[in-house]
Amino acid sequence: MTSISDYSEQLIPLTRDELVAKLKIALDSNRFHHVLRVEQTAIDLAKANGVDLEKASIAGLCHDYAKQRSDADFLAAIDRYGLAPDLKNWANPIWHGVVGAELVKHELGVWDEDILNAIRHHTTGDATMSLLEQVVYMADYIEPGRDFPGVEQARQLTHKLLALGVAYQTKRTLEYLLDHGSPIYPATILTYNAWVPKYEGEING
Ligand SMILES: [Fe+2]
Ligand SMILES: [Fe+2]
Repeated sequence: MTSISDYSEQLIPLTRDELVAKLKIALDSNRFHHVLRVEQTAIDLAKANGVDLEKASIAGLCHDYAKQRSDADFLAAIDRYGLAPDLKNWANPIWHGVVGAELVKHELGVWDEDILNAIRHHTTGDATMSLLEQVVYMADYIEPGRDFPGVEQARQLTHKLLALGVAYQTKRTLEYLLDHGSPIYPATILTYNAWVPKYEGEING
């Protein structure tokens, strides 16, 4: 297990300890410990996939930075940062990634687009995802605190090939939304089309 004690690449104007302290204030205890586990899982997946470890650490820690912000905060941020007005028709599960990335940029000073995209797309995925985006998408899904039917298969597929994990999670998430009659964010369908048919034969069984 590799861990990161501090940052040297100037991707964020904070030490890791300072960032962790900010997250401890922004999040309740359960979510704070979740983001620490996502960070570690992201670092491990980054190492296995040749991805920058500091980016994995920062994106893992920051992915849920905005999760506990009020709806009013998100609605104001959509206007302030000129995001698509249609976003106002959605809610926290979508906002904390897509809008949350803007809050991470402007409040924490992270301007690296790869890190911001990993935060933006950590819930919905995207048709095109960099390796860092895939790492964070999967780390959020399989971190050691996760315990749902299928998580072991998700872990195995992810360790075999990151893209298989992405396809598996995307399929399971869409199945869940359909089963519950939930609205489906358009990007989720694009994620499905880009990742699931391609790997369908390898993610079942
Ligand atoms: Fe999240
Ligand atoms: Fe998360």
